[in-house]
Amino acid sequence: MPHKGFTLWLTGLSGAGKSTLAHRLAREFRERGYRTELLDGDEVRTHLSAGLGFSRQDRDTNVRRIGFVAKLLARNGVIAITAAISPYRDTRNEVRREHRDFVEVFVDAPVAALAERDVKGLYRRALAGQIPNFTGVSDPYEAPANPEVTVHTDRETVDESLDAILTYLEDKGFIDAEAPVGAGGL
Ligand code: ADX
Repeated sequence: MPHKGFTLWLTGLSGAGKSTLAHRLAREFRERGYRTELLDGDEVRTHLSAGLGFSRQDRDTNVRRIGFVAKLLARNGVIAITAAISPYRDTRNEVRREHRDFVEVFVDAPVAALAERDVKGLYRRALAGQIPNFTGVSDPYEAPANPEVTVHTDRETVDESLDAILTYLEDKGFIDAEAPVGAGGL
């Protein structure tokens, strides 16, 4: 099914749920017959951005690389999903300006909730002063000023956040609306 490619840019703190949502979105798009690719921060850092650290400069390089690949995919009809912290507003906006169709999703959750969950054990170490440039603790995170969608993963289920994103994309015509369950029966 031909459709217009676009970039779905997830931004938010470590552990906020970007990767989880990105994988669910990718599965959903594939099931709907769309071509999609996922550029996940953790994974990109093992090849495309291997060797980069967490200084502002290295993060910006990482984000620009992800943005560049996403742009190539999107203009070839693919839904490019990205999931990197991408903490700097200017750099995200720079990537946005290179795109024709760009949807920024703020995956929002307070540091306190993430530190509580601490899936990777990084918040505990960062809060103990053992990680000098840890986003949200000892390094900045600049929340988007005007994201197309905001999801609050500390108080929504994954399905609710997923629905909010899909509804936005359907409403704006990025993807076709799903026929409601039971439609066409009468
Ligand atoms: S970004 O800032 O360049 O966009 P990216 O999403 O690729 O970050 O990588 C973030 C992941 O790296 C985190 O989820 C975490 O697992 C790991 N990480 C290691 N050190 C740090 C740090 N100092 N700040 C943030 N994340 C870190």
